[in-house]
Amino acid sequence: MAQSVFEELLVYVGFGPDDAEALHALLPLARPHFGHISEVFYARILEHADARQALEGGEVTVGRLKGLLVQWMESTLAGPWDTAYFERRSRIGRAHVRIALPQHYMFGGMDLLRRELATVLDEARLQPPERGRRMRAALDRILDVELGIMLHSYEEDREVQRLQAVRTLTAGLSHEIRNPLNAATLQLAVLERRIRRMPPQDQADSLQPLVLVRDEIRRLDRLLEDFLQFARPHELAREPVVVETLVQRVADLLSTDAERRGVRLSLQLETGLRARGVESRLREVVLNLVLNALDASPSGGEVRVTSRSAGGEQVELRVEDDGEGVDPELRERIFQPFFTTKPQGSGLGLAIVQTIIAQHGGNLRLEHTEQGGASFRIHLPSATAPPPPRLS
Ligand code: HEM
Repeated sequence: MAQSVFEELLVYVGFGPDDAEALHALLPLARPHFGHISEVFYARILEHADARQALEGGEVTVGRLKGLLVQWMESTLAGPWDTAYFERRSRIGRAHVRIALPQHYMFGGMDLLRRELATVLDEARLQPPERGRRMRAALDRILDVELGIMLHSYEEDREVQRLQAVRTLTAGLSHEIRNPLNAATLQLAVLERRIRRMPPQDQADSLQPLVLVRDEIRRLDRLLEDFLQFARPHELAREPVVVETLVQRVADLLSTDAERRGVRLSLQLETGLRARGVESRLREVVLNLVLNALDASPSGGEVRVTSRSAGGEQVELRVEDDGEGVDPELRERIFQPFFTTKPQGSGLGLAIVQTIIAQHGGNLRLEHTEQGGASFRIHLPSATAPPPPRLS
């Protein structure tokens, strides 16, 4: 993702500092009406035979939800409209998805809130009228963003379901292919032993095709390993992982490879950083990204891995290369399973990376360096942050 969904939404609706100011000014005017608006909101839902069914638990649930809606209005107008805000809103979106609330209810719900809040503004008859108009525009923008986040939660859920289906299919196919492949490998070993018993001058002719077949089987086996990695759901037992050690291990592993390609591998790692995660899985993430970066970098180029603390609760890891960057049209697609630009690739490397990071409650972004190379930026919960919510 070149930009986070939230940033994209803010830019799309044109939400800026003036809007933030206008919403802050609107808040004290609107606050006395939040309780009433919340009553109207749930009264409307209760009038609707199908929507009413969502409110299991009767009055107690409705009472709790009314309170939560009041808090929601307060924070919508108060901000700050930052990443934490987006995360909280996404959780609300996921709460609706979890109870299978039809997506179109969100339009009706948001429309009601918009009209009720606009009425408060109209009735305040602000002077000069321009003040009121600015507040109304800001209100429209932030509610558009809110609706966008709600709808994005449904989109995410569809993506999770789709991925789940692809995973099931991949796992099934991989097992089906692996069994006959193992049998073929065994038979190949038998064949090799027979060839080695032949007179030496006759061996070469038979061994050469055998080695070719064996190499191809190995390649297929590696591909299947990738497929299974992607398909296997992992329960994560997270613990503190020292980022410096993690990256250093990957760098040691790949140093000969980098040297052979003539690419410098440079590390700038903040000491003492610890992410909450599973070491082996995070190593796979860094390994995949650094390997991709090495592939993308020309001889004489540099691959940079940097880590730093991001706001205390997050650890940021960046892998940058000196390549040509990713074509804007491919930026979304490179994360999709089975999409690859490499002739020998399984197309699962980045899909695996993204899956692992999402399982850790982190996020991955593709950006570009000043020179136009690719820059993958990962945010992971730090070991000091409270445990992240489960995604699925
Ligand atoms: C579009 C505007 C809406 C907003 C701003 C909104 C806001 C919220 C908030 C803040 C929560 C609490 C989430 C949490 O922290 O646990 C919530 C949950 C809930 N909302 Fe909405 N909501 C909207 C639309 C609707 C509609 C149209 C319905 C019903 C037809 C509905 C039914 C529910 C229910 C049943 C829950 C509880 C979910 C659970 O059990 O976790 N919401 N909503």
